[in-house]
Order: sequence, then C-alpha cells, then structure tokens
Amino acid sequence: MVKGKTIIVGITGGIAAYKAIALCSKLAQSGAEVHVIMTKSAAKFVTELTLQTITRHPVYTDTFDERDPSVVSHIDLADRADLVVIAPATANAIAKMTYGLADDMLSTTLLATTAPIVVAPAMNVHMYEHPTVVANMETLRKRGVMFVEPGFGQLACGYVGKGRLAEPEEIFAWIESFFARRGRRNEPLKGRSVLVTAGGTIERIDPVRYITNDSSGKMGFAIAEAAHAMGARVHLIAANAAIDPPSGIQVTRVVSAQDMFDAVMRHMAESDIIVKAAAVADYRPVQAALRKIKKSGGELTLHLEKTPDILQEVGARKTTQYVIGFAAETDNLEQYAMDKLRRKNCDLLVANDVTAEGAGFGKDTNIVQIYDRNGLVETLPQMAKSEVAFRLLQFVAGRLAGETD
Ligand code: CTP
Repeated sequence: MVKGKTIIVGITGGIAAYKAIALCSKLAQSGAEVHVIMTKSAAKFVTELTLQTITRHPVYTDTFDERDPSVVSHIDLADRADLVVIAPATANAIAKMTYGLADDMLSTTLLATTAPIVVAPAMNVHMYEHPTVVANMETLRKRGVMFVEPGFGQLACGYVGKGRLAEPEEIFAWIESFFARRGRRNEPLKGRSVLVTAGGTIERIDPVRYITNDSSGKMGFAIAEAAHAMGARVHLIAANAAIDPPSGIQVTRVVSAQDMFDAVMRHMAESDIIVKAAAVADYRPVQAALRKIKKSGGELTLHLEKTPDILQEVGARKTTQYVIGFAAETDNLEQYAMDKLRRKNCDLLVANDVTAEGAGFGKDTNIVQIYDRNGLVETLPQMAKSEVAFRLLQFVAGRLAGETD
C-alpha cells in the first residue's frame, strides 16, 4: 500500500524527533519515496545526514536552499506528495499551520500542498490540553487535517500524561491503512472486468437506409469512463453514437444488434460486470436489400423480424457475472422495470422515464431509478450522466463487496 507513494515527513523541534528516524526507516523499507523536511529546531535533535542516509533523498531545512535549478523545491515537493506526515508536531508547528504562517521550508510546503496531511502531535501534557492548542487542532480537523493521537505515559519533561508522540509503528500502521482506505475508495472496481454496451444499433434496410433510434451513447460511455476511473478493466462495445468514446479503454465498434450480440457473447466469459446501456433495435428487416429500393406504388411494406435479445441471453447464460440492464420507458416505470429485470434475469435494472425533462436520449443529465429483485433500491435525482455513472458503479461495487447485501 505504501510502496511507490511519495510521502513528505515533516519533523519539528521536539525530543520525539528521534522517533521520526524509525518512522522514515520503516516507510523507506516499505518502498515509499520519503522526503524529509526539518525545521531548524528539529535539526538540533536529529541530523540531516541520518535522515538523508535512511531515505536516500536530500533533507530540506531551508526554503532558499534550491539544489535543482529546474524546480522550486517547496512547490515541487508539495505537488508530488501523496501524503504529508508531521511527526512530531510541536504546539508551535500546529499553531503555524492553523494561522497559515510560511516562514520556513516546512510551513511553506504545508501551505503549497493539496495532498492530505496527518499530524502526530508531541508535547507536554499541559500544552496539549491548553485551550489554544485544543482550538487550533479543532480548526485543523475541520479543514480535513488528520491526527494520530499522542500516547499516554512518561513525558521527557518529567510529567506523566498525554503528549508522547505515537510510536513509529503506530504512525506507520495509520499510514498503511490510510492508503488502503483510499485505494478502496478511489478504485473500488480494481481487478474487475467490466463490459459495457452503448449507443444505438443500426439495422440496414438497403445500402442507403436504415432503422435506428435516438440513443446518443452518452450514458454508456459515461459508465465505461467511470468504470475505468474506478480501476476496472473496461471493454466498451459501441454501436452508433453522437459522441466519441472515451479514450484509454478497449473499444469494439459494432453496427447491428446481431454484431453486438456476437461481440457480447464472445467477451461475456471474461467479464465480471456487464452493463447493457445500449439501445438495441428490437426488430430488423428480414432481408436487407443489396440494392437501393426504388419507389413503386403508393405503399411499401417492410417485413421485420425480432433481433436476438442480448440482455436476455446474457441473463440466461450468466454464471458469476453481475448483470445490469437498462429500461427506457414512457409510462408505468416500476412495473415495466421489474418485469424486464425478472424476464432478463438481471441483478440490477436502471430505469428512466425518457419523457421526463432532464432525462433520456441525447441529454447530458439523467434521472434514474435502480431496481433489484426485491424492488426499488435507489432513486437518483437529476444529475449529470457522468455522476449517474459513478453513483451506479459505486452501488455495484458496494454490492460486490457485500456491503449493502
Ligand atoms: N436489449 C438487448 N437486446 C435487445 C433489446 C434490448 O440487449 N434486442 C437490452 C437493452 O440494452 C436494455 C434492456 O434490454 O438493457 C431493455 O431494453 P428494452 O428495449 O427497453 O426492453 P424490451 O424487453 O425490448 O422491452 P420493450 O421494448 O417492450 O420496452
């Protein structure tokens, strides 16, 4: 979890600074890129050389000590960090963070970074309980700064109480679990294969005419993009659409319902999640004319036959796949949705009323209801299709992780 992460360890001036050496050592041994920034007072307790040797990176104390002319050090470090750990954090360091002082390398970097920050305080028990320190920590908490609480015990000043820097093992465990939590939150579909169908199929009448529908592909493309962002391997099977498919994912282009059927069946076995957002034609001409049909007489009758129902076949053949169908309706939403879900053996069905303002074909927003076998499980108000996609996949990830079962 920690491997490959860029972690800034800020060391401020307290006797507990010696424990930061063990923390940096554990982080470096676990494969993290550790960059140490020390305050001048910290350098009185531990040496730059020790930390540089452990981390294999230069240690910063002075904002003006610019070693690489191609970058500005405090901005460069601030930008690269995945996490900033302040251990130990003195009462003074906490106060400077609260009020935004930027008078040394560490405080300047703390203002410049957008990375998450965790503070491990260490100080005398009365200082730790002082209303100013308590209020400062509260302000920082409200801004999203996290804390590893100090321990209780013998303090360097002779007192016994709360204020001992948490042990390096404890801070290290906190950091590991932070990255584990973040990994799950950001990439809840990591390791899963997601097959998404999108767009409207085209059924040929003759070389210049066809039957299709109003699908823009936006909903399905948004789902493919969201699944990719959530860590999944994504295969998008795309029929006709008004926009380009998202980049960075595998795309198979298809034209007709039959093409889509064949592509889905070919790739079904390797998929964990199948999302059928495509608007598949229900009927196609029995025979597509090889030559342009010329007009003759007052009426023309086209003979149509049913296309294969891809979702129904997926539902019938599925083994471990989690299958999500879509239903575009104009009335009786719940009844039709539940009927489709059961008939096509889906795990979830996403239904929308295409007549509603802000929903349906071609729009950038949607209003959907999600059903499972037991009925309605989630109603999403009008929101961007990209947001609908994230919310739907978050729900699926939760189900697969057994969180909402
Ligand atoms: N679907 C499919 N293959 C078809 C028709 C539909 O895979 N030949 C899928 C769609 O991708 C969608 C779901 O089935 O996920 C619902 O599509 P819809 O056309 O609304 O369902 P039908 O069962 O055909 O019902 P109706 O047309 O009567 O509303």
